[in-house]
Amino acid sequence: SVAPFDHLSHVESTSQLPSGAGRISRPNAVVLGEAIAAEEVDLVVPSHDFSRDALVSSPEQYQQMYKRSIEDPAGFWSEIASEFYWKERWGPEVCSENIDVRKGTVKIEWFKGGVTNICYNALDRNIEAGNGDKVALYWEGNEPAQDGQLTYAQLLEKVCQLANYLKHVGVGKGDAVVIYLPMLMELPIAMLACARIGAVHSVVFAGFSAESLSQRIIDCKPKVIISCNAVRRGAKTIHLKGIVDNALVESTENGVPVDLRLIYENKSAMDRETTKWQEGRDIWWQDVVPQYPTKCSVEWVDAEDPLFLLYTSGSTGKPKGVLHTTGGYMVYTATTFKYAFDYKPSDVYWCTADCGWITGHSYVTYGPLLNGATVLVFEGAPSYPDAGRCWDIVDKYKVTIFYTAPTLVRALMRDGDEYVTRYSRKSLRVLGSVGEPINPSAWRWFYNVVGDSRCPISDTWWQTETGGFMITPIPGAWPQKPGSATFPFFGIEPVIVDEKGNELEGECSGYLCIKKSWPGAFRSLYGDHERYETTYFKPFTGYYFTGDGCSRDKDGYHWLTGRVDDVINVSGHRIGTAEVESALVSHPQCAEAAVVGVDHEVKGQSIYAFVTLVDGVPYSNEVRKSLILAVRSQIGAFAAPDKIHWAPGLPKTRSGKIMRRILRKIASRQLDELGDTSTLADPSVVDQLIEVSDH
Ligand code: WTA
Repeated sequence: SVAPFDHLSHVESTSQLPSGAGRISRPNAVVLGEAIAAEEVDLVVPSHDFSRDALVSSPEQYQQMYKRSIEDPAGFWSEIASEFYWKERWGPEVCSENIDVRKGTVKIEWFKGGVTNICYNALDRNIEAGNGDKVALYWEGNEPAQDGQLTYAQLLEKVCQLANYLKHVGVGKGDAVVIYLPMLMELPIAMLACARIGAVHSVVFAGFSAESLSQRIIDCKPKVIISCNAVRRGAKTIHLKGIVDNALVESTENGVPVDLRLIYENKSAMDRETTKWQEGRDIWWQDVVPQYPTKCSVEWVDAEDPLFLLYTSGSTGKPKGVLHTTGGYMVYTATTFKYAFDYKPSDVYWCTADCGWITGHSYVTYGPLLNGATVLVFEGAPSYPDAGRCWDIVDKYKVTIFYTAPTLVRALMRDGDEYVTRYSRKSLRVLGSVGEPINPSAWRWFYNVVGDSRCPISDTWWQTETGGFMITPIPGAWPQKPGSATFPFFGIEPVIVDEKGNELEGECSGYLCIKKSWPGAFRSLYGDHERYETTYFKPFTGYYFTGDGCSRDKDGYHWLTGRVDDVINVSGHRIGTAEVESALVSHPQCAEAAVVGVDHEVKGQSIYAFVTLVDGVPYSNEVRKSLILAVRSQIGAFAAPDKIHWAPGLPKTRSGKIMRRILRKIASRQLDELGDTSTLADPSVVDQLIEVSDH
C-alpha cells in the first residue's frame, strides 16, 4: 500500500512552498520502551531551481514511480535493467523469491538466466558510449600534494592487466580473492579485475587486525591475497604487509595457506628495500602486472553468480560473510546512486567511505562507475593536515556530491565553522549521510554551514545486507526533515512491527522489517544459509528483519533509532558486542566481560566494557591497557573500548543471562532508570557496580 504518503499529496510541488515553510513536530513516540523527546523540526524545502532540474522533481512524481515499482516490480526493474548490457536476457521470471521460512528455504533470485558482467557494464559500456576520455577516478593521497587520475579508458586498461595476471596465476570463475588494501586506486581496480573474470572478491578493511584478517581468510579460502606494503594515514605509517604476513601464519596453521601474495609497492609510505620480503612467495604488483596485455576478455556470468563476499558483524561472535550476486546488485546500486544523489553526468562525486565497507563497494566503486560518474578516491584522513582538508579537496576537484558519515560531520562541527567557511564549496550540489542516525543538530550544521543552506541532504539508510539504499530522500522530490531518512526507495516496502510481528499503521514505532525482496538483497551468508534464515527471516516470519528500530511520524517520514540487537555502531562502524567480549575474555587475566554501547557526542556510540578479572588479579592500569590491546590486536583499533569498568560481578538472571539493559543504564549513568532488578540472581551486584564506577 502506498497509503502512508497520500496525506502529503497536498504538497502540490515542493517548489511552491517557501523555504522553511511549515513546522512539523516530531511524534512523541515511544520506541521499544524508551521515550524519544518530542522535538520541533523544520520542514526544509528544496529550492525551485533544484527541483526543476531534478530527476524526480515532486512528491507526485515520486509517488507515481514508487507505486509502479510496488505494483509491477517485474516491469519496473526490467525496464531499468534493459539499460545495461546483457549477453543473454533474463528468463520470463524477473524475480522469484521465498522469504517466508514457513514455506521452505529462503531464496531470492533476480534476473535469473540473464548473463552479464558488472565490470563490462561499468567500464566497457561507458567507453563505448563515448566516455573513454572522461575521468573515472581522481585520487587524492594522504599528503595534499599527492594526486592522480585515470580516465575510463585508462582504468579499463589497468583493470585488464590485473585481470590477465590473475587469470595467468590460475584464478578463475568462482574463486575467492581477498583484497586488503587502503584507498589507493588499486583497490577499485582490484575489485573490478575480479569481477571481470568472475572471481569473487572479499575486501577486508585495512584497519582490521591480523587476527580478523586471518579469520576471514580461513572462512573464504582465497587463491590470492592482494595487499600493499604500507600506508600513511595522517601522520602515521601502517605496515600492512606485516599484518598480512601474521594473518597468513595463522591461516596456514589452520589449514588455509595462501600461496600467492600480490603486494603493491606504495612508495609514498614505504619503499621496497625496507619491506620485509620472502622471495618466491611475495610478488610485487609493479613487477608483474604492467607486463600483461591491456585488453582482457570478459567472463560472462549468470545474474545469480556471486560477485563478492563482505564480512560484517552480528549478534554472535563470528563475522558473517554477506554474499551478493551480480545482476540484481548491479541494477540496484546503479539505480539507487542515480536517484538518491540526483546524478548528472557533469557531477564530481566524493564518498569518504573506505572500500573495505559496503558503502565503498556500492557507492565508491560499482554504483557511480555504472553511471559513468567521476569518482574521487581519498587515501588520507579527513582532518589531516587540518580540519579543513575535506573542503580543500572539494574546491580542488570541484566536488558536486559529497557523501559522508555523521561521525565526521560531528567531528568537523566541533572543530568550528572557520575551517569550512575559509573554502568556497560553491561546486557542492548534494550532500549525503550514512552509517548511523544523523542527529538534527549535526544535520542542520551540515546543511547550513557546509552546504550554505543550498544542498539537499540524502540521509541514506541501508545495510551491508541490503546492497544499496533502502530508505532515503530523493533530493528535489520531498521537503526534508532534519534527522529523518524520509521515504523508501523504489521497490522497497518497509514495515514497522511490534514485538509480536504485527504490522503497525500510521504514526508508530517498533522494529523495522522489509516485505518482499529487492534486486540488491544479499542472497546468503557464505557457507551458512541456516544462519541467514535464523538471523534475518525467522525473528518476524514473512519479513526481512533489519535489526533496527524505527518510528514513522504522522506525515509518513521514517526516523531510524538505532540497532535493537547486540550490535554497536561506533563512528559508523558496525561492531558486535560478542566480538569485543570474546577478545576481552581471551586475555588470560579476564574472567568475564560484558560490553554495551553508550552515546558518544562525536562517534555516535562508544564501547563500554564491564570486566571481571580472574580471582586474585589486582585491578591496575597495566591490566586495563593490555585488555584494550587485546581488542586492538584481535579486531582492530576502531573497536577498542573507551572505558573499562571493573566489575566485581555482573548482573545476571537466575538462569545466568547477563542483563545488558541494566549495564547500559549504569554505563550511561541513568541510575534512576535501572528498572526492576528483583529478577537478578544477586541484586546487590548492581550497587557494587555503581559504587565502582564512582571511583
Ligand atoms: C545503521 C552501512 C540510521 C543501521 C551502510 C544499520 C543507519 C547499520 C543509517 C548498517 C542511516 C546505516 N540512519 N542508521 N542513514 N545508515 N545505519 O552494514 O543501524 O555497516 O542497521 O551498512 O548502520 O551498517 P552497515
